[in-house]
Amino acid sequence: MNLHNSILEISCVNSSNFPDNTLPEYVLCGRSNVGKSSLINALLNRKKLAYTSSTPGKTRIINFYNIDEKLRLVDLPGYGYAKTDKKERYSWQDMMNDYFSNRENISGFLQLVDSRHEPQSLDMTMARYIKSYMENCYENNLSIPKWVIILTKADKIKKSEIEMRIKQTHDILNIGNYANIVLFSSVKKIGIEDLWENITN
Ligand code: GTP
Ligand code: MG
Repeated sequence: MNLHNSILEISCVNSSNFPDNTLPEYVLCGRSNVGKSSLINALLNRKKLAYTSSTPGKTRIINFYNIDEKLRLVDLPGYGYAKTDKKERYSWQDMMNDYFSNRENISGFLQLVDSRHEPQSLDMTMARYIKSYMENCYENNLSIPKWVIILTKADKIKKSEIEMRIKQTHDILNIGNYANIVLFSSVKKIGIEDLWENITN
Protein backbone atom coordinates (compact mmCIF):
# COMPACT_ATOMS: atom_id res chain seq x y z
CA MET A 1 0.00 0.00 0.00
CA ASN A 2 1.45 3.35 -1.02
CA LEU A 3 0.52 5.74 1.77
CA HIS A 4 1.68 8.70 -0.30
CA ASN A 5 -1.25 7.98 -2.52
CA SER A 6 -3.81 9.12 0.06
CA ILE A 7 -6.38 11.77 -0.65
CA LEU A 8 -9.36 13.39 1.00
CA GLU A 9 -11.80 11.92 -1.48
CA ILE A 10 -14.97 13.66 -0.42
CA SER A 11 -16.59 15.54 2.48
CA CYS A 12 -20.28 14.83 2.99
CA VAL A 13 -23.16 15.87 5.16
CA ASN A 14 -25.41 13.00 4.09
CA SER A 15 -25.47 9.74 2.21
CA SER A 16 -26.47 11.25 -1.12
CA ASN A 17 -22.82 11.93 -1.95
CA PHE A 18 -21.08 9.09 -0.11
CA PRO A 19 -18.51 7.38 -2.36
CA ASP A 20 -19.24 3.88 -3.66
CA ASN A 21 -18.88 1.13 -1.08
CA THR A 22 -16.48 -1.15 -2.91
CA LEU A 23 -13.47 -0.55 -0.62
CA PRO A 24 -13.06 -1.80 2.94
CA GLU A 25 -13.83 1.05 5.26
CA TYR A 26 -12.39 1.84 8.69
CA VAL A 27 -14.40 4.33 10.64
CA LEU A 28 -12.99 6.61 13.30
CA CYS A 29 -15.30 7.43 16.14
CA GLY A 30 -14.68 9.20 19.40
CA ARG A 31 -15.43 12.24 21.45
CA SER A 32 -14.86 15.62 19.97
CA ASN A 33 -11.22 16.69 20.40
CA VAL A 34 -9.99 13.16 21.21
CA GLY A 35 -7.56 13.29 18.28
CA LYS A 36 -9.31 11.61 15.32
CA SER A 37 -8.08 13.99 12.63
CA SER A 38 -4.58 14.09 14.12
CA LEU A 39 -4.49 10.29 14.05
CA ILE A 40 -5.29 10.27 10.34
CA ASN A 41 -2.37 12.61 9.66
CA ALA A 42 -0.06 10.51 11.86
CA LEU A 43 -1.12 7.23 10.27
CA LEU A 44 -0.59 8.57 6.79
CA ASN A 45 2.54 10.50 7.70
CA ARG A 46 1.06 13.76 6.48
CA LYS A 47 1.04 17.06 8.29
CA LYS A 48 -2.19 18.63 7.15
CA LEU A 49 -4.27 16.20 5.16
CA ALA A 50 -6.93 16.12 7.88
CA TYR A 51 -7.95 19.39 9.45
CA THR A 52 -7.22 19.50 13.19
CA SER A 53 -8.11 22.09 15.78
CA SER A 54 -7.88 22.71 19.50
CA THR A 55 -11.49 23.94 19.38
CA PRO A 56 -13.74 20.89 19.91
CA GLY A 57 -16.35 20.07 17.31
CA LYS A 58 -14.43 21.27 14.28
CA THR A 59 -15.08 18.29 12.06
CA ARG A 60 -18.82 18.70 11.43
CA ILE A 61 -18.86 16.64 8.29
CA ILE A 62 -18.03 13.09 7.29
CA ASN A 63 -14.66 12.97 5.57
CA PHE A 64 -13.71 9.99 3.42
CA TYR A 65 -9.98 9.44 2.92
CA ASN A 66 -9.00 7.10 0.12
CA ILE A 67 -5.76 5.25 0.83
CA ASP A 68 -4.17 4.12 -2.41
CA GLU A 69 -7.49 2.77 -3.68
CA LYS A 70 -7.08 -0.06 -1.14
CA LEU A 71 -9.15 1.17 1.78
CA ARG A 72 -10.95 4.16 3.16
CA LEU A 73 -10.60 5.88 6.50
CA VAL A 74 -13.73 7.73 7.53
CA ASP A 75 -13.49 10.64 9.95
CA LEU A 76 -16.87 11.03 11.64
CA PRO A 77 -17.84 14.17 13.55
CA GLY A 78 -16.93 13.79 17.23
CA TYR A 79 -19.56 13.12 19.83
CA GLY A 80 -20.15 14.91 23.09
CA TYR A 81 -19.64 18.40 21.84
CA ALA A 82 -22.40 20.16 23.78
CA LYS A 83 -23.52 22.83 21.41
CA THR A 84 -26.37 24.92 22.65
CA ASP A 85 -27.91 25.01 19.21
CA LYS A 86 -30.25 21.99 19.27
CA LYS A 87 -30.62 21.87 15.52
CA GLU A 88 -26.90 21.16 15.15
CA ARG A 89 -27.02 18.25 17.56
CA TYR A 90 -29.90 16.61 15.78
CA SER A 91 -28.09 16.94 12.53
CA TRP A 92 -25.16 15.12 14.14
CA GLN A 93 -27.48 12.25 15.11
CA ASP A 94 -29.00 12.23 11.65
CA MET A 95 -25.56 12.08 10.12
CA MET A 96 -24.61 9.09 12.29
CA ASN A 97 -27.79 7.19 11.42
CA ASP A 98 -27.31 8.02 7.79
CA TYR A 99 -23.76 6.69 7.85
CA PHE A 100 -24.26 3.51 9.88
CA SER A 101 -27.38 2.43 8.02
CA ASN A 102 -25.86 2.93 4.58
CA ARG A 103 -22.42 1.32 4.70
CA GLU A 104 -22.27 -2.45 4.35
CA ASN A 105 -18.54 -2.18 3.76
CA ILE A 106 -17.51 -1.23 7.31
CA SER A 107 -14.47 -3.44 7.94
CA GLY A 108 -13.43 -1.92 11.21
CA PHE A 109 -14.36 0.45 13.99
CA LEU A 110 -11.48 2.53 15.27
CA GLN A 111 -12.81 3.89 18.53
CA LEU A 112 -10.68 6.62 20.07
CA VAL A 113 -10.68 7.17 23.81
CA ASP A 114 -8.57 9.76 25.64
CA SER A 115 -5.88 7.90 27.60
CA ARG A 116 -5.78 10.63 30.23
CA HIS A 117 -9.24 9.89 31.59
CA GLU A 118 -11.35 6.86 32.28
CA PRO A 119 -13.84 6.15 29.47
CA GLN A 120 -16.86 8.47 29.66
CA SER A 121 -20.52 7.57 29.30
CA LEU A 122 -20.58 8.48 25.60
CA ASP A 123 -17.61 6.16 25.06
CA MET A 124 -19.65 3.40 26.69
CA THR A 125 -22.66 4.19 24.51
CA MET A 126 -20.47 3.97 21.41
CA ALA A 127 -18.93 0.70 22.62
CA ARG A 128 -22.37 -0.83 23.16
CA TYR A 129 -23.40 0.30 19.71
CA ILE A 130 -20.33 -1.25 18.10
CA LYS A 131 -20.85 -4.51 19.95
CA SER A 132 -24.47 -4.78 18.87
CA TYR A 133 -23.42 -3.97 15.29
CA MET A 134 -20.89 -6.83 15.43
CA GLU A 135 -23.44 -9.21 16.92
CA ASN A 136 -25.93 -8.32 14.26
CA CYS A 137 -23.35 -9.15 11.58
CA TYR A 138 -22.67 -12.47 13.30
CA GLU A 139 -26.36 -13.37 13.48
CA ASN A 140 -26.86 -12.53 9.83
CA ASN A 141 -23.79 -14.37 8.60
CA LEU A 142 -22.12 -11.18 7.45
CA SER A 143 -18.42 -10.60 7.86
CA ILE A 144 -17.76 -9.14 11.27
CA PRO A 145 -15.91 -5.81 11.39
CA LYS A 146 -12.86 -5.42 13.60
CA TRP A 147 -13.01 -3.24 16.65
CA VAL A 148 -9.87 -1.45 17.80
CA ILE A 149 -9.88 0.84 20.80
CA ILE A 150 -7.21 3.49 20.52
CA LEU A 151 -6.04 5.25 23.66
CA THR A 152 -4.98 8.65 22.36
CA LYS A 153 -2.60 11.36 23.62
CA ALA A 154 -0.45 8.69 25.27
CA ASP A 155 2.40 11.19 25.39
CA LYS A 156 0.44 12.87 28.18
CA ILE A 157 0.21 10.00 30.63
CA LYS A 158 2.76 8.60 33.00
CA LYS A 159 4.31 5.26 32.08
CA SER A 160 3.19 3.94 35.45
CA GLU A 161 -0.45 4.66 34.59
CA ILE A 162 -0.54 2.85 31.26
CA GLU A 163 -1.34 -0.64 32.51
CA MET A 164 -4.02 0.67 34.86
CA ARG A 165 -5.68 2.64 32.06
CA ILE A 166 -5.68 -0.30 29.66
CA LYS A 167 -7.28 -2.55 32.24
CA GLN A 168 -9.81 0.10 33.21
CA THR A 169 -10.75 0.67 29.57
CA HIS A 170 -11.12 -3.05 29.11
CA ASP A 171 -13.42 -3.31 32.12
CA ILE A 172 -15.49 -0.15 31.71
CA LEU A 173 -16.15 -0.69 28.01
CA ASN A 174 -16.72 -4.35 28.74
CA ILE A 175 -14.83 -5.39 25.62
CA GLY A 176 -14.21 -9.05 26.43
CA ASN A 177 -12.61 -10.61 23.35
CA TYR A 178 -14.30 -8.23 20.98
CA ALA A 179 -11.60 -5.55 20.69
CA ASN A 180 -7.87 -4.92 20.76
CA ILE A 181 -6.49 -1.92 22.58
CA VAL A 182 -3.74 0.18 21.01
CA LEU A 183 -1.83 2.91 22.82
CA PHE A 184 -1.37 5.89 20.53
CA SER A 185 0.19 9.32 20.28
CA SER A 186 0.09 11.44 17.16
CA VAL A 187 2.56 13.86 18.72
CA LYS A 188 5.16 11.26 19.72
CA LYS A 189 4.27 8.83 16.92
CA ILE A 190 3.47 6.00 19.30
CA GLY A 191 1.36 3.07 18.12
CA ILE A 192 1.35 3.75 14.39
CA GLU A 193 2.72 0.33 13.37
CA ASP A 194 0.60 -1.42 15.95
CA LEU A 195 -2.52 0.23 14.56
CA TRP A 196 -1.64 -0.54 10.94
CA GLU A 197 -1.13 -4.17 11.92
CA ASN A 198 -4.55 -4.22 13.55
CA ILE A 199 -6.10 -2.74 10.42
CA THR A 200 -4.40 -4.90 7.84
CA ASN A 201 -4.13 -8.28 9.59
P1 GTP B 1 -13.10 17.00 16.32
O1 GTP B 1 -12.87 17.09 14.85
O2 GTP B 1 -13.48 18.28 16.97
O3 GTP B 1 -14.04 15.90 16.69
O4 GTP B 1 -11.69 16.66 17.03
P2 GTP B 1 -10.66 15.51 16.65
O5 GTP B 1 -11.02 14.27 17.40
O6 GTP B 1 -10.49 15.38 15.18
O7 GTP B 1 -9.31 16.07 17.32
P3 GTP B 1 -8.05 16.74 16.61
O8 GTP B 1 -7.23 15.72 15.88
O9 GTP B 1 -8.46 17.95 15.87
O10 GTP B 1 -7.18 17.14 17.92
C1 GTP B 1 -7.72 17.91 18.97
C2 GTP B 1 -6.62 18.52 19.80
O11 GTP B 1 -5.86 17.51 20.45
C3 GTP B 1 -5.62 19.35 18.99
O12 GTP B 1 -5.24 20.47 19.77
C4 GTP B 1 -4.44 18.39 18.81
O13 GTP B 1 -3.22 19.06 18.67
C5 GTP B 1 -4.48 17.61 20.12
N1 GTP B 1 -3.93 16.26 19.93
C6 GTP B 1 -4.28 15.35 19.01
N2 GTP B 1 -3.55 14.22 19.12
C7 GTP B 1 -2.69 14.42 20.15
C8 GTP B 1 -1.65 13.62 20.77
O14 GTP B 1 -1.35 12.48 20.37
N3 GTP B 1 -1.01 14.17 21.83
C9 GTP B 1 -1.30 15.41 22.30
N4 GTP B 1 -0.61 15.85 23.35
N5 GTP B 1 -2.24 16.20 21.74
C10 GTP B 1 -2.93 15.72 20.67
MG1 MG C 1 -11.54 16.24 13.63
